[in-house]
Amino acid sequence: MNKSLRNAVIAGNWKMNNTRVETTALINELAPLVKGADCEVVVCVPFTNLQTAVELAKGTNIKVGAQNCHFEKNGAYTGEISADMLVEMGVEYVVIGHSERRQYFAETNVTVNKRTKAAIASGLKVLLCVGEMLEDREQGITDELVALQTKIGLLDIDKADLDKIIIAYEPVWAIGTGKTATAEQANEVCTMIRNTVAKIYDQAAADAMTIQYGGSMNAANADELLAKPDVDGGLIGGASLKAADFTAIINAASK
Ligand code: PGA
Repeated sequence: MNKSLRNAVIAGNWKMNNTRVETTALINELAPLVKGADCEVVVCVPFTNLQTAVELAKGTNIKVGAQNCHFEKNGAYTGEISADMLVEMGVEYVVIGHSERRQYFAETNVTVNKRTKAAIASGLKVLLCVGEMLEDREQGITDELVALQTKIGLLDIDKADLDKIIIAYEPVWAIGTGKTATAEQANEVCTMIRNTVAKIYDQAAADAMTIQYGGSMNAANADELLAKPDVDGGLIGGASLKAADFTAIINAASK
């Protein structure tokens, strides 16, 4: 396993936070701070902030992502946004299957797979989220559950398209709770995900796959988490809303 084969990716998931005015301020503050980053820097912002973010990110090393997209190209899906619409705006990434969408918006492994396929067909890069709930961990089924999410998430996706997919392992009990998985726990599941990818495709594909950890990652714990051999980056919620905190995580990933 050679971590240096992989691209470290630090992505901020702003969730339903920041107006356009706040978006402008945060990206303008962030851009000079992350200029020298030796990792991919992504901000996944609400749909209404995408245009602002894309404009401000021009000429910087910040990439812009959305937080969801629909699986159909167009049609009678009131309130939805297609992958092509995002691409047309200059968006490069999209978060798919975040646990909040799974919990609150009836997202399933099957719709996660459909959205993933639609996104990569349109040319987006996908941050594909998987992760167990606390009760799954307590019942000792974390590996089975996360392997299942990974397998169905990647169903019918060609090996040639895997470079457009990043898997984000986010234990649901660690999201927004201040309760981080230990670096060992995070690495253990990331390794298991990599082994699952190796079984579906092959070892080379698994070795090349960027796998992030997410769940209360912050300036204080990022070093330890990102030093783990199978943790190639982070999907950051709360700490991505403050330029200094997000920059500290980016600096940790750039080491
Ligand atoms: P958190 O969120 O960093 O606030 O725990 C992570 C995420 O939900 O992506």
